[in-house]
Amino acid sequence: MKILSIETSHDDTSLALYEDKKIIFEVNMSQTEFHKTYGGTIPEYASRGHYTNLYSALESMKEYDIETIDYIALTVMPGLVGSLNMGKVFANALSISLNKPIIEVNHMHGHIFAIEFNHEIKYPAIALIVSGGHTQLWYVKSPNELEIVGQTSDDAAGEVYDKVARRLNLGFPGGPQIDKIFSEYKGEYFDFSLKNDGSLDFSFSGLKTKILNYTNNFDKESQNTKQIAASFQLSIVNYLISKTKSAIEKYNPESIILGGGVSANDYLRKEFLKIHKNALVPEKRYSTDNAAMIAICAHLQHITKQ
Ligand code: KG4
Ligand code: ZN
Repeated sequence: MKILSIETSHDDTSLALYEDKKIIFEVNMSQTEFHKTYGGTIPEYASRGHYTNLYSALESMKEYDIETIDYIALTVMPGLVGSLNMGKVFANALSISLNKPIIEVNHMHGHIFAIEFNHEIKYPAIALIVSGGHTQLWYVKSPNELEIVGQTSDDAAGEVYDKVARRLNLGFPGGPQIDKIFSEYKGEYFDFSLKNDGSLDFSFSGLKTKILNYTNNFDKESQNTKQIAASFQLSIVNYLISKTKSAIEKYNPESIILGGGVSANDYLRKEFLKIHKNALVPEKRYSTDNAAMIAICAHLQHITKQ
């Protein structure tokens, strides 16, 4: 059973050829270099990027006989509307020309089930999904029974990383830069700690404001940039971990899953593995957006159950 999957929800154009939990071929065309100049993703440019990238991505699959696929899996939500629509038009054209059915996949479910490339989920599970657009805790009873039990009321964790990095002139996207500074940093930390109110919802606005206010006074020549970046990461990761612990206490899950772009963060991965005996972290290449996770999600949700 073969799936051709398509992911275009944000600025990455990604196609994968998948068969029974294995990736036969994948191509991921990032637009980060382009959007970097703007300090963030410009939705209209992202759609235009998909328009050209989708055809090149398909071209790169030439040596595979895509007529042998059984399904086309496609991210349909959530995401940037123009970007999602590019994927939809492309999937529809393929579906008509190849006469294969489309399976619609929720992008967030894709981030959750990406873990199945390397680990078997024990149900029920709690998933912490942290990306540039979302910060959510999910209760996952089975591949088709899952619900959001906590989410951010303001920015997403990745978005805060990107905004703090921009303020500190560290470039875009901010997560990898701040993570690198944190891993090399040996000094004292500022107290930017965020309080967990015991609920499963998140709020990052206090942390963001604290840091933005702080940087208004900092001297660019001094060591402060690294100290601020490292203290920020310590605070945000401790907060994400503390919220996940609250979810563990409430739901007593058999496993916990980490996913989304911010799950590439080394400190978060390390701390996450400490808080449950079945804590599962994804392969780094499947942390950020990719089509492989869309294929495995389609498989688990729509095909395995038949
Ligand atoms: O899931 P993703 O690739 O795209 C969205 O759907 O948003 O997540 C992108 C986000 C960006 O905000 C980026 O800064 C963050 O993931 N990110 C990281 C790391 N690598 C990427 N955040 C913290 N540490 C990292 N190592
Ligand atoms: Zn994502």
